[in-house]
Amino acid sequence: MTQSHKLAPAALVIFGITGDLAHRKLLPALYHLAEDDLLPEGFEVIGVTRSGTTVDALLDDIRAKVRAGDEQCDETVLERFGKSIRIVTMNLSKEEEYAKLKDELDQHEMRIGACTHRLFYLAVPSQTFGDISDMLGKAGLTKGCVHHVGESRLLIEKPFGYDLVSAQELVGMLNAEFTEQQIYRVDHYLAKETAQNILTFRFNNPLFKTVWDSKTINSVMITAAESIGIEGRVAFYEQTGALRDIIQSHLLQLLALVTMEQPEKMDSDTIHAKKLELLRAIKSIPPHKVAEQAVRGQYEGYLEEVNNHSSVTETYAALRLEIDTPRWRHVPILLRTGKAMADKVTEITLTFKDDADEHQNTLTLHIQPNEGISTQLQAKEPGFDSESETVQMDFCYPQTGDGVHPDAYERVLVDALGGDKTLFATSDEVIASWEVVEQVVHAWGQSDDGMQTYPKDSWGPEAAEKLATDAGTAWISQHLHICQFHPTVPNNQKG
Ligand code: BG6
Repeated sequence: MTQSHKLAPAALVIFGITGDLAHRKLLPALYHLAEDDLLPEGFEVIGVTRSGTTVDALLDDIRAKVRAGDEQCDETVLERFGKSIRIVTMNLSKEEEYAKLKDELDQHEMRIGACTHRLFYLAVPSQTFGDISDMLGKAGLTKGCVHHVGESRLLIEKPFGYDLVSAQELVGMLNAEFTEQQIYRVDHYLAKETAQNILTFRFNNPLFKTVWDSKTINSVMITAAESIGIEGRVAFYEQTGALRDIIQSHLLQLLALVTMEQPEKMDSDTIHAKKLELLRAIKSIPPHKVAEQAVRGQYEGYLEEVNNHSSVTETYAALRLEIDTPRWRHVPILLRTGKAMADKVTEITLTFKDDADEHQNTLTLHIQPNEGISTQLQAKEPGFDSESETVQMDFCYPQTGDGVHPDAYERVLVDALGGDKTLFATSDEVIASWEVVEQVVHAWGQSDDGMQTYPKDSWGPEAAEKLATDAGTAWISQHLHICQFHPTVPNNQKG
């Protein structure tokens, strides 16, 4: 795997180095970048922890994680990467402790004899973002290195706020210390390979570009199903729920890419402007339509798992939306997500209009697990009869290029190090997304009205089926894991 430009020296400060995000995503992604030699020269990771840890403990963690993914862990790479890690043990809520961090950053720059970019990745609960950014400001850490040459960047993870008002407050708090240009709101779904391909696929193929509207398209459906439950993240999940965790962020971002107008230029600002225009055109669900347009559920056993029998936190959410633009008016948009579902799959499906059956032709953008694009078509059954049958054409990523593409978090880190904001959400996009779901968030927080229970390993509550049938369509739950039947054959093994 190669990367087109060389990255400037940088330090990556990870607040919460012993936490779930660092363990599951950030540290393995950094190891893989080190393995592919994609980190900048003189790069250092500064792991911030309240309770303390050691470099060896972090390396053990990475080794176990890499092996759990059925990969060999390269000990030479691991050792080299370990040398670039420093640990700072500090209390994040004490202003004076930020001097330790500043000292560590200054020492790094002295060691390599250069000013660096300083990236602060807040892999900690979002309630702490405002205070940490405030203290980074007070410690003089928002301005880059001592000579103010390198840039200081703040990376934050969703949920960006808890509802519309808190999201607006958070924007205000962060903007008090960092400019919008310095803030990177991570949405790792945007960094998945097929998500990045959506605009290219839509706008570079006249075959599809010309049919991408309400004249031809019957419905747009996005599913993000996870087979895992909440994996012990009780405190986080109880405050978040499926609507905030996945729909308000990841799925509305994917929807924007699939439905936005064509940008005049493919640069970050123009793409963001078009996405924002689209997000603002989604009709927010009014209070009296919440029961009709939104479904929520909890998987069986959730209440016992979180030890809270009055919990109104949904582990499943589905919405029916409408986009108020000439291109999309009257096309039902269906979004759904859930934990403990029958499969781990994220995909975007467009169904095409037809008098006979709306699912004669579908186009599916497979975001995961196997990335690619498939279409379902009608073809004549082979033989003497003239019956038609449904056949499928697949485009599989592993069959293109060198067959390897970076994991979403590797892409997030490389783009943040390189200062490319295309795949990060802007504050305006975040606010526009909250506006879409605000009334649902509000209604669902008030009571458990309409809460459904669904069995684990299912496709969620039955009420969600009605949401789709009322819109004249149906969820497609026969998810085809494309590409798994086409293993890449290395050139030297081809017959
Ligand atoms: C995160 C959510 O944003 O995405 C998690 O907070 C979820 O609850 C995760 O498990 C899913 O990510 P992926 O890349 O595994 O689909």
